Amino acid sequence: MQIIHTIAELRTALNAYRHPAVVPTMGNLHAGHLALVRQAKPLGDVTVSTIFVNRLQFAPHEDFDTYPRTLEADCAQLEAAGCDIVFAPKEAELYPQPQTFKMHPPTELADILEGHFRPGFFIGVCTVVMKLLACTQARTALFGKKDYQQLMVIRNMVKQFALPVDVIGGETQRNEAGLALSSRNGYLSPTQREEALLLSATLKKIVAALRAGGADINALETEAMLTLRSAGWMPDYVAVRRQADLQAPQPGDPMVVLAAARLGSTRLIDNMEV
Ligand code: PAF
Repeated sequence: MQIIHTIAELRTALNAYRHPAVVPTMGNLHAGHLALVRQAKPLGDVTVSTIFVNRLQFAPHEDFDTYPRTLEADCAQLEAAGCDIVFAPKEAELYPQPQTFKMHPPTELADILEGHFRPGFFIGVCTVVMKLLACTQARTALFGKKDYQQLMVIRNMVKQFALPVDVIGGETQRNEAGLALSSRNGYLSPTQREEALLLSATLKKIVAALRAGGADINALETEAMLTLRSAGWMPDYVAVRRQADLQAPQPGDPMVVLAAARLGSTRLIDNMEV
């Protein structure tokens, strides 16, 4: 496996290939990322993973400075998963001067849910993903469904700009108790890891009620917020939306339940399709 830090070297390495399958990450990898790498493997003639903690998608009060940088351990895991090339640029390589061109995704998709609570987040995500797709010459790119809205925003960006990239979603990986794998789970204490199960349990309950039919969506959302609050969480949202565009569902629409909530100082997100 090659570990490459500059765009020029990456271009040279990629000359030998026609169809890079790319898994963009911010490092601090877990089994969810590695599942994406394994899923990517048969989809291209070279498997590339990018590791870059993208300052542009963090608000000033968020965890950019403390986000774990674990390049060596990440590379060992990527190699074991069959990755061929790791692109891990330094900030000055990817953003040689302040990145003054930015991608602005449409408000109806990017200013709701995550975008409402993390203003500018999707501008940062789209800007870096656009750049990483260009650097890696991705023909296939894989993103986890745990970041459901991110996947949808990226899919739409790729479509609207006619980028020659197939965007593929990877299923959310969970531990045996149901907690969605996330780099931020590393911030949780052992007790909080137990408490964190309430998030997936709450979503599961809503999914069951929706599948049973005749449920009052507003009541389900409100009850879930109360459940989380009374267990000491600070929920940002629990929302039932339609899968197609994350707007309010109409009868018959395939739905997805999404939630974001803070447990102590750790903000977790999760979602389940109905
Ligand atoms: O999901 C992530 O890890 C990041 O948002 C991504 C897509 C790598 C962009 O920085």
